Amino acid sequence: MRDRLLAAEKVKAIDWRDDALYLLDQRVLPFEETWHAYTTAAGVAGAIRSMVVRGAPAIGISAAYGIALAARQRIAEGGDWAMALVQDFTVLAESRPTAVNLFWALNRMRDRLARLKGNESPLVALAALEAEAVAIHLSDREANLTMAQLGADLIRKHQGNLQTVLTHCNTGALATGGFGTALGVIRAAHLEGMIERVYADETRPWLQGSRLTAWELANEGIPVTVNADSAAAHLMKTKGITWVIVGADRITANGDVANKIGTYQLAVAAMHHGVRFMVVAPSSTIDMALASGDDIPIEEREGRELLELGGQRVGADVDAFNPVFDVTPADLIDAIVTEKGIVERPDTAKMALLMCRKRLH
Ligand code: MRU
Repeated sequence: MRDRLLAAEKVKAIDWRDDALYLLDQRVLPFEETWHAYTTAAGVAGAIRSMVVRGAPAIGISAAYGIALAARQRIAEGGDWAMALVQDFTVLAESRPTAVNLFWALNRMRDRLARLKGNESPLVALAALEAEAVAIHLSDREANLTMAQLGADLIRKHQGNLQTVLTHCNTGALATGGFGTALGVIRAAHLEGMIERVYADETRPWLQGSRLTAWELANEGIPVTVNADSAAAHLMKTKGITWVIVGADRITANGDVANKIGTYQLAVAAMHHGVRFMVVAPSSTIDMALASGDDIPIEEREGRELLELGGQRVGADVDAFNPVFDVTPADLIDAIVTEKGIVERPDTAKMALLMCRKRLH
């Protein structure tokens, strides 16, 4: 299965080459495939803030490369480059607040910097930081493959063949270092002949569902239908949905899950309709420092994003409230699938046990 999954990998959104970070501009997909090159931490932070790159793992990977780029720049400037790099960590950490993968990746880069002896040449230090960023990228790709297989096995265990599933936002190759989280599970289940149709929530206001998820699935010939976010409960009642499968931006120690706004109402509706609810995320999305979802900082973006479409005003001239994530309580979740294994009916004790485990592959 691993080889078949790798063969199915078509899209990538992050490319590290020629001493620069190349990002596929996700704001203009699927109409334009435009790549931008970045050579500074500030540039990468701007790309994260403005949604050129988005999705929790992809943000973390980009930030790690941002530090490698910053190190190159600081070394060229001379002086105490490691001290100057502190500012670059801050700029990147301030780009978006909710996805913990960003902070996890920056911490890994900080730890790698701290493990340097201090007497190596700056070029050796730079090579170590670049290698760490590449390792973060590759390990996310590996985690995607493991989760895809585990999630597909879980679907088979509970329901057998031919599922109609619902997903939210974009959790595919565009949002990660490889194959996708929730979308990776859907891809693997499709390769195993288990997916009849995927309903993709449109995902207002950035339309990650109708622009990105639908594009990724259609490219692979996976049957996909886009629906308005507000149609989800109706779909669960009328279309035989068996699973809601979503990603995550931060999972707390008790198993609460922050994900794209609208996920919480999906979980409530799924519980009501007896539809199973699966969250797929690498362990880099788990924040054991936070006891519950109440502690997660929820990003609020400009109201303009709700009141305009393609730069055209479509709403009245009033205030708009635009939180872009919400928190689904653990007791609405059937399973959290990670590269360390699966937690069914998550709670604090099960999450702690999971985090003690090694990666499965
Ligand atoms: O605002 P976005 O597009 O960065 O939000 C992305 C999501 O909410 C995804 O569901 C989440 O990051 C998981 S991606 C594998």
